[in-house]
Amino acid sequence: MKPDLDAFWMPFTASRQFKKAPRLLTRSADMHYWDDKGRQILDGVAGLWCVNAGHARPKIVKAIQDQAAELDFAPPFQMAHPKAFELADKVAKIAPPGMNKVFFTNSGSESVETALKMAIAYHRARGEGTRTRLIGRERGYHGVNFGGISVGGMVGNRKMFGTLLAGVDHIRHTHDLERNAFSVGQPEHGAELADDLERLVALHDASTIAAVIVEPIAGSTGVLIPPKGYLQRLREICDKHGILLIFDEVICGFGRTGTPFAATTFGVTPDLMTLAKGITNGCVPMGAVLAKQAIHDVFMTGPEHLIEFPHGYTYSSHPLACAAGLATLETYADEGLLTRAGQLQGYFAEAVHSLKGLPNVIDIRNFGLVGAVELAPVAGEPTKRAFNVFLDCYDKGVMLRTTGDIVAISPPLIIEREQIDQIVDTLRGAIQRAA
Ligand SMILES: Cc1ncc(COP(=O)(O)O)c(C=O)c1O
Repeated sequence: MKPDLDAFWMPFTASRQFKKAPRLLTRSADMHYWDDKGRQILDGVAGLWCVNAGHARPKIVKAIQDQAAELDFAPPFQMAHPKAFELADKVAKIAPPGMNKVFFTNSGSESVETALKMAIAYHRARGEGTRTRLIGRERGYHGVNFGGISVGGMVGNRKMFGTLLAGVDHIRHTHDLERNAFSVGQPEHGAELADDLERLVALHDASTIAAVIVEPIAGSTGVLIPPKGYLQRLREICDKHGILLIFDEVICGFGRTGTPFAATTFGVTPDLMTLAKGITNGCVPMGAVLAKQAIHDVFMTGPEHLIEFPHGYTYSSHPLACAAGLATLETYADEGLLTRAGQLQGYFAEAVHSLKGLPNVIDIRNFGLVGAVELAPVAGEPTKRAFNVFLDCYDKGVMLRTTGDIVAISPPLIIEREQIDQIVDTLRGAIQRAA
């Protein structure tokens, strides 16, 4: 029976369009969804960049079922349950060296808020309470809470919501079609864009700046790959001025770039790192912030009966999420999924770049198992061309995502070569029809 579609106010959805022609998913397994009409749909975006091990994986399903029967909830304040420690330990073991403290949240947005608060509180705890300014980057996406949209740089997500957080500034984005269009992997040009942080230091003074937050690969804004040397340069400038570097790895984390984390892939270790999505394979909401030992330790002073970091959520380290997280990490390890993107990236790159030359294709980007095709907008109707391509692909049995006039691809890491071909062939047809 078709549900009544009236009451549900949908997130980030063109809801009047949706309710006229609903896309209802009712079942999933491995690389596929099925809709309410029984149609099979290939998942080209890992759900929403989160189902890295593919859908309904037996180990994860069983872990969640067993956990619900054994311990449904345990308060995370002044109490805990063993799996929270086990999962934190397992995440820390695959993290970049030294990032060995794990704070659990329930989403990427909450991870971002947590990391921003940690950064400001860290400086205060070590006697530099003037460092309160937060620096984001144009076109950054850091979720939808007030801190996240303040440091974020996607205008559509900011303009409706007032003045946002005070004391925030942004460095320039790295998107440069003129110099870098159709780069395979990391673009050659743009390392110097990191120097924009020096401009903000000159303007505000380093003594007022707590942290800089960037996505190593900016995902939601349309897959912007960091230019060669850019992240290294950003790290150097942060070090020079005592500014914390936060990597938002909500999308990049858990294998998307060919190693567990983009920090490892690009050889740059941040001070704080935000995670979510792939930590539980998308099965149960969960996020996390990884912190360097030294950041954590600054808080560990004062009387022992006092709470050192007054922050947390009722569902931080929820037992179902921890069970799902442990089974997810086991599945990743059993199947070598955290490095599989590295093995497939050559094939994937060639496949997506084969779309070059199609009508309205103005750029193609790729890294690991993430890719994007940027289209020229329909005159006077931005976003429409890509949205039509998305609808067309869905109609032909492939689910992708769009942002602006960019079509993004980020399949589950279990994808096979024929399925990469299916995605690209379907996209090819849709782009031709959208001309
Ligand atoms: C880089 C980044 N940060 C934060 C978020 C927000 O995560 P959530 O939707 O789980 O709050 C996202 C979501 O896509 C993201 O891509």
